[in-house]
Amino acid sequence: MKISVFVVLLAGLLAACNRPEPSKNNSQNGNDHPGLDLNRAAFQKTIDGKKTDLYTLRNTNGVEVAITNYGGRIVGLWTPDKDGHFADIVLGHDSLGGYLNGNNNYFGALIGRYANRIAKGKFTLDGKQYSLPVNNGANSLHGGTKGFDSRVWDAKQLDGQNLQLTYDAKDGEEGYPGNLVIQVLYTLSPDNSLRIEYHAVTDKATVVNFTNHSYFNLAGAGSGKITGQVLQINADHYTPIDSTMIPTGQIAPVKGTPFDFTEPTPIGEHINADNQQIRYAKGFDDNWVLNKPEPGALSLAVTVYDPDNGREITTYTTEPGIQFYTGNFLDGSTVGKGGKPYNYRTAFTLETQHYPDSPNQPNFPSTVLGPGHIFHSITIFHFGVRKQ
Ligand code: GLA
Repeated sequence: MKISVFVVLLAGLLAACNRPEPSKNNSQNGNDHPGLDLNRAAFQKTIDGKKTDLYTLRNTNGVEVAITNYGGRIVGLWTPDKDGHFADIVLGHDSLGGYLNGNNNYFGALIGRYANRIAKGKFTLDGKQYSLPVNNGANSLHGGTKGFDSRVWDAKQLDGQNLQLTYDAKDGEEGYPGNLVIQVLYTLSPDNSLRIEYHAVTDKATVVNFTNHSYFNLAGAGSGKITGQVLQINADHYTPIDSTMIPTGQIAPVKGTPFDFTEPTPIGEHINADNQQIRYAKGFDDNWVLNKPEPGALSLAVTVYDPDNGREITTYTTEPGIQFYTGNFLDGSTVGKGGKPYNYRTAFTLETQHYPDSPNQPNFPSTVLGPGHIFHSITIFHFGVRKQ
C-alpha cells in the first residue's frame, strides 16, 4: 500500500485530536517578548534546498519557546522562577550557524530515526540485516551521520501555541528500511506545559525511537553546574551498559546503587561514586526503566527542581524509558547563546525513549513499526515553581 494513504490517515487522525483554541492575545512568530533576545533572521537560511526559520510559542503567563525547523530544535525556553523572573533554561545557539559547525551536541533536537545507540550499527529485521553509519565508537548513535536533528522539517505554525513539524525520511536513508513520515506537534499549554506529540507511519517494517534532546539548566543556560539540582525518577530499574554504552540486556534494580533516584536526591550526590557504570559514562548517561501502571500509559517520569530559584520540571511520558544524561561530554569548547561556554555537567537531558539498542535486545519492548500501524507517543514537560 502506498505511503500517501497513510499520510491521509495520519492527517485525519491529527485533525480529530483536541487542540486548544488559538489565543487572541498572542502574536505569532514575534520576537517582542522582553526575555526573547534571539534574532529570527539569524535562523532564516536555505539548507538542502529548504527554508529554515524560527517559530515562537507563547502563553499568557509569558512562558515562551523558540523552535527552529532545522532539526525541530528547541532553541530557547523561558520560564519563571519563584520570584517571577524569567530565564532561558535550555542550551543552544544564537544563530543557525552554531548548529551547523559539526560540533553536534544535539542541542534541543528531535532525534530519529532511532534515538540512542544501536550496537555496532547493525540489526536484523524480518531475516534481513541492516547496516547503519557508525558514529559513536563502534556504535550508531541518534540516527546516524545525518539524523533527523540535521534535517529541515516542514513547519506549519497552527496558532500561537501549536507548531507542527513533518519530516519524510526516505527508504534506505541512514541505512534504515522504509519510507517513514513523522509528524511532531509542539504545544505550549496555558498551564505552562510543553507537550511533544509524535506520530509516524511507514510503508515497510522499520525500527523507530524518537526523543527530544533538550539540555536543561534550571538556573539558566550557561549558569554553572547542575549538580545541586534535585532529581526524582519514577523508576525502580535501569538498563546497565557495557564499556561502549550498549545495554547488557539486564534490567537491574536501582536500589543500593547511585542510580536510585526514587526519592528526591541532588544530581551531584552520587555522580562521582566509585561505580563502573558511572566510570563508563563519566557521570550519569543511562536509561531508566520507568514504573508504569500499564505499558504506554502517559505517566509521571521525572521531577527535577532547583532549590535556589524554585524552577521545577515535571515530565510525563508514554515512553517506557528515559535517558538521563548530565552533560558529561560538554567541556567548554562549545560557546552558546550570549557567548557563554557550556562546561562539564552544566546541563542535563530528559530523553524519553524506548531502551537503547532495542532492535538487538529481544527482552526489551519492541521498537518495530510495521506498515498499516501508526506510531504515537506523547511527552510533557511541565514548568512549575516551588516556593520553598
Ligand atoms: C545522549 C547519549 C550521550 C551523548 C549525548 C550527546 O544523551 O546517551 O552519551 O551522546 O546524547 O552528546
